[in-house]
Amino acid sequence: KNKIKVAIDSPAAAGAGTQAKLISKHFNLFYLDTGKIYRLIANIKLTQPKRYSHNFIKKIMRKLSINDLENSNLLSDEVGTMASVISKDKKIRKLVHAFQIKSAYNPPKKYNGSCLDGRDITYKIIPDADFKFFITANTKTRALRRYKELKSLKKEVTFNEVLKSIKKRDKSDYNRKVSPLKKTKDSVLINTTKHTKRACFLKIKQIMNMKL
Ligand code: C5P
Repeated sequence: KNKIKVAIDSPAAAGAGTQAKLISKHFNLFYLDTGKIYRLIANIKLTQPKRYSHNFIKKIMRKLSINDLENSNLLSDEVGTMASVISKDKKIRKLVHAFQIKSAYNPPKKYNGSCLDGRDITYKIIPDADFKFFITANTKTRALRRYKELKSLKKEVTFNEVLKSIKKRDKSDYNRKVSPLKKTKDSVLINTTKHTKRACFLKIKQIMNMKL
């Protein structure tokens, strides 16, 4: 039986991670939050600036395991902002490419397939995905969600700081030359602004069940 591939692109804090996890659990798919890879690299740049080089990141990527991505330090806004800086680097994106391809096309055997979320998943990493979604929400809603999330992790931030950094990240992710964030024509738009997590997931599930 053919494995299912789900590709999701979305701006920061739109609820893509939440939906991707629900999808992966329900359909038994291997989930990869690709933003975490860029965050891990950004964290190296912030904490070990002297060691940061393409060669060093190449070595890190060779040894990378899914468990390395579960570090809660990676969630901070500072790391997110740095991730949107280092991810503009074509060479860095190339180094991250192989890990994503393997996760998408060769997930561990026990899964029925894979689900990846990021910025260029629908058109660069899995252009032949069985399902493509563009998940978004208005800027204030996303900032409020991220603010609450950071607060629950006991991070010291104000709402205005979070709003500012979300706007900055949007600007950089949508306008960059390399792998810009965009909704492809063949992606289904899911706007989570006015809907609960559950309602959004029901819609996604319905769309997927029609084709499965
Ligand atoms: O999704 P998340 O907010 O964790 O991503 C952090 C940053 O990493 C994004 O703002 C984006 O610049 C970059 N990124 C990317 N391509 C991806 C995933 C994330 O360029 N596939």
